[in-house]
Amino acid sequence: MCFITFEGPEGSGKSTQIALLAAYLKKKGHKVVLTREPGGSKIADKIRQILLDKNNKELCPSAELLLYLSSRAQHLSDTIEPALQKGYIVLCDRFSDSTLAYQGYGRGFDRKTIKMLNDFAASGRKPDLTILLDIEIKKGLKRAHKSKNSKDRLELEPVAFHARVRHGFRAIAEKEPKRVKLVNINSGVEAVFCKVASLADLLLKSQDA
Ligand code: TMP
Repeated sequence: MCFITFEGPEGSGKSTQIALLAAYLKKKGHKVVLTREPGGSKIADKIRQILLDKNNKELCPSAELLLYLSSRAQHLSDTIEPALQKGYIVLCDRFSDSTLAYQGYGRGFDRKTIKMLNDFAASGRKPDLTILLDIEIKKGLKRAHKSKNSKDRLELEPVAFHARVRHGFRAIAEKEPKRVKLVNINSGVEAVFCKVASLADLLLKSQDA
């Protein structure tokens, strides 16, 4: 059973790295499911639409938090747990650490409460490895906007919000160094992927032992 999550601020290149890792692991003969949050199943994708719709300006912070958690509970039930039970490696673009970073550090919700709610929504499921791709905020936002035509609801938040989120991710990595591995993305896609692949290889080796 192997559950790997990718985390990071906006524009940190998660989608590129997670797709590269999926291809790499498949080539090595593993069965892989690539998924993402919010979303990752039929109902969870509907929740994603509500969460990212930039017209939903009046969505209040507590409803936002609960929707992210609802999406997670449904995603786990529909996609993640069944795949893990069938022996797939599950690669997930964002998971509980995003809730702690965005709604905890970003919005300012009590972090103990968020951790408790995260555990409830995920039924205690924790990633075996989390790869945190780190990027300087303004650079990341620029990259994120370049790759899309329009900004989503979260990307429209001010730079100060995203700075708190980045600080949150880095704090999580400091507190849980065994699970969360911080990779700076400045070295370019290929060098970053070498690091990502070696972290995944190490995890799989430790599970074989
Ligand atoms: P993304 O798929 O482009 O990463 O968009 C998801 C957005 O949702 C991103 O801005 C991060 C945010 N998010 C939260 O605020 N809390 C969460 O729990 C998750 C999973 C994502």
